[in-house]
Amino acid sequence: MGHDRWDSAVVYQIYWRSFMDANQDGIGDIAGLRARIDHIHQLGVDAIWLNPTYPSPQGDHGYDVSDYFDVEPMFGSLEEFDRMIDDFHQRGIMVLMDIVPNHVSSQHEWFQSALTEGAGNPSEEHFIIRDGTGPGGINPPNDWVSIFGGPSWSPFPSSGRHLQRWYLHMFDPCQPDLNWHHTDVHERFENILRFWLDRGVDGFRIDVAHGLFKAPGLPNRSGFGDNWSACWDQPEVHDIYRKWRKIVDEYEPSRFLIGEIHTATRERLLEYLRADQLHAAFDFSFLHQDWSSDGFRDRIGANLDLWNDTGCLPVWTLSNHDEIRHWSRYAPLLADRSPDGQVANIRYRSLLALIMALPGRIFLYNGEELALPQADVPDEDRQDPAFFRQTPDSDYKGRDGCRVPMPWDANLPNAGFTNSEPWLPMPEGWHDYSVSIQHDDPNSMLNYYRSVIQRRRIEDWMKSDSIDEVESSSDILSFVKKTENKRVRVLMNFSDSDFPFDNDNTIMRTSDSDISDSFLRPGELAYIEI
Ligand code: GLC
Ligand code: CA
Repeated sequence: MGHDRWDSAVVYQIYWRSFMDANQDGIGDIAGLRARIDHIHQLGVDAIWLNPTYPSPQGDHGYDVSDYFDVEPMFGSLEEFDRMIDDFHQRGIMVLMDIVPNHVSSQHEWFQSALTEGAGNPSEEHFIIRDGTGPGGINPPNDWVSIFGGPSWSPFPSSGRHLQRWYLHMFDPCQPDLNWHHTDVHERFENILRFWLDRGVDGFRIDVAHGLFKAPGLPNRSGFGDNWSACWDQPEVHDIYRKWRKIVDEYEPSRFLIGEIHTATRERLLEYLRADQLHAAFDFSFLHQDWSSDGFRDRIGANLDLWNDTGCLPVWTLSNHDEIRHWSRYAPLLADRSPDGQVANIRYRSLLALIMALPGRIFLYNGEELALPQADVPDEDRQDPAFFRQTPDSDYKGRDGCRVPMPWDANLPNAGFTNSEPWLPMPEGWHDYSVSIQHDDPNSMLNYYRSVIQRRRIEDWMKSDSIDEVESSSDILSFVKKTENKRVRVLMNFSDSDFPFDNDNTIMRTSDSDISDSFLRPGELAYIEI
């Protein structure tokens, strides 16, 4: 198989609302992104992934799409979007869009027609609308629950019928699920793909790719041994991805399809990665992995096995817009950043160096290059629909804490993100992470990210597909990467004590110890030529 431009790509995720606000409404936009393109270029990434860009009432911050053929006016116009694609392409950076096929916004014309054109109107067929159960249909049709909490059904106008009707939404009520058994839906999404591919988009990240179809008859989850089988991951979905793959394969240069896929078993995941379907699936295991060398070894091993079985290169990621920022997952004590407590900093650097030395694709999330922690957003400022659907006893606060806007300039109000009120408040000390400070500091996290990304561009062994001896013992993770004329051992110390090692031929290490020190400090990683 020949080399593809996506094989070892480093992709940088842009959360629109939080990246850069140019028109001063407190929310990021296309003009802001274009104004900060140098930041991305200097990072040295191969591609960006844009969270949903489409017109949306922003009930789930863009994952509730009301028109798939345009750009959210708050972000800018289609013309600006086209110019932005050119900007990135001119710098050799590919652009991945988000596509949201499982559900639309309740403001989408289809749902609006279904709601307003009277019972039995054809638009109702585009959604999953059922009679309720119990007297008068007072209870939802089945026991399914929304990913954001609460029932996955909300009342639908019943137009004088005997029973209350309900519509299905596996997420927020503002996100009605589409009925993928209707061919209109197929056709619509094929047109959407072409619309954006024709504009030069280099591929799609498919939102909830295991969704779309539901089990026939919408059986209660409680009737199934495993709950996943009723609401998700139905066999019909694979024909859709076969069609989508054919469409993207018509384009040159190669386009890319990556799924956000959750399945009950590994075997089920394999089905999405058949040669005629998606190119890749995210691996989310590092987003939930404890600090443990055995744990990381197992996850790496599982991912390499999956690659072996499918031919689809792995995808490594430490953070995204749905999860707690990995600074806070792995180094919860901010105090640990003090000069005499560098372990957190070393761990954080090592995690990047680790994934950058693994074969396949890397997804970074905006702000991680600044070592942004999870922000503590006061409850009254929270915006995530998932927060509002929790029961009072829940500890889950939703996802706002990883979505607080980027700090650009320490000398400006709101760290240069906006002149007006940012859509989520920046906590105390947020200015200290600013790009303006880190840019000139050779020891900053930003410059560390730049240098490791740059190294991966140049060093073939880092991108190489050839990996073996993935091992963990005594809290030390190690593996070997190879090219024809180079062999490099990657060693990472997960323990709390120094680990003696033979430091001859060390290429890089992630602490500021003298390169000649013959021990790895706690949390430290080294690349060693062997
Ligand atoms: C995906 C997105 C998440 C969104 C959800 C519903 O999980 O990553 O942000 O809320 O789908 O579209
Ligand atoms: Ca704006």
